[in-house]
Amino acid sequence: MTTNESAQHGGSQPTGDRDSIGSRSKSVPEIREAVADHVDEMDGSSTVNRLLTARYRRRHFARASGRVLDVACGSGTNVEYLPEDVTYVGVDISPEMLARAADRFERLRRGESLYEMNAQDLAFDDDSFDTVISSMSTCMFPDPVVALEEMARVCASDGKILLLEHGRSSVGPIARLQDWRAEPRYEKTGCRWNQEPLAVVSRSNLVVEGTTTGMLGMVTTITARPPDGD
Ligand SMILES: C[S@@+](CC[C@H](N)C(=O)[O-])C[C@H]1O[C@@H](n2cnc3c(N)ncnc32)[C@H](O)[C@@H]1O
Repeated sequence: MTTNESAQHGGSQPTGDRDSIGSRSKSVPEIREAVADHVDEMDGSSTVNRLLTARYRRRHFARASGRVLDVACGSGTNVEYLPEDVTYVGVDISPEMLARAADRFERLRRGESLYEMNAQDLAFDDDSFDTVISSMSTCMFPDPVVALEEMARVCASDGKILLLEHGRSSVGPIARLQDWRAEPRYEKTGCRWNQEPLAVVSRSNLVVEGTTTGMLGMVTTITARPPDGD
């Protein structure tokens, strides 16, 4: 199933895979440093971020169940959009983000587990989560395909992988603006803001079962599962 939440807007030519910016990818320590420098801007709980993404998080992550892993959890924003009976585990490379998540969970009086961990090398057994979620994250991973395949590895074979990603707009002038600013933005924040999330996911072994787009093509939800036999 593939659905489009918004109408298609003409003018943006398909670009193929735009997830490589310039000639190099930042390393994990460089990305950790960039996040530390822009922690307010990247915090999914900021007012602007909430205004833009809350409805997508609510709709998409309401479908999570059981033991849930939030990869690149940031400040733990997604926990508010998950069913109350899930068991939540969050991982991120940023100590600043994890400290914010720990504060939030203390305020909410919820006993979630948080770990400082690289999405590209998850320290969990195969098939150990019923649902793996991740939001606004593949744009930052040095190698998003490795991270996505780690998500598939730790997800139960009958489990779900729910992704919420931002990317290149389907509206020509906005897409061109994103392309124009992509390189400086990547240098500053480590975020490839004109990537095409479905193109990235299609290079991994995830089996995509559904997608929606919104916000002039800049937000994509992806429902996927691990490959057969994984
Ligand atoms: C834009 S923020 C999104 C945070 C959160 N998922 C949200 O939706 O609000 C991207 C997050 O990815 C994390 N991140 C980047 N590279 C990572 C990696 N290799 N492993 C784990 N986390 C990573 C950053 O530290 C940051 O918290």
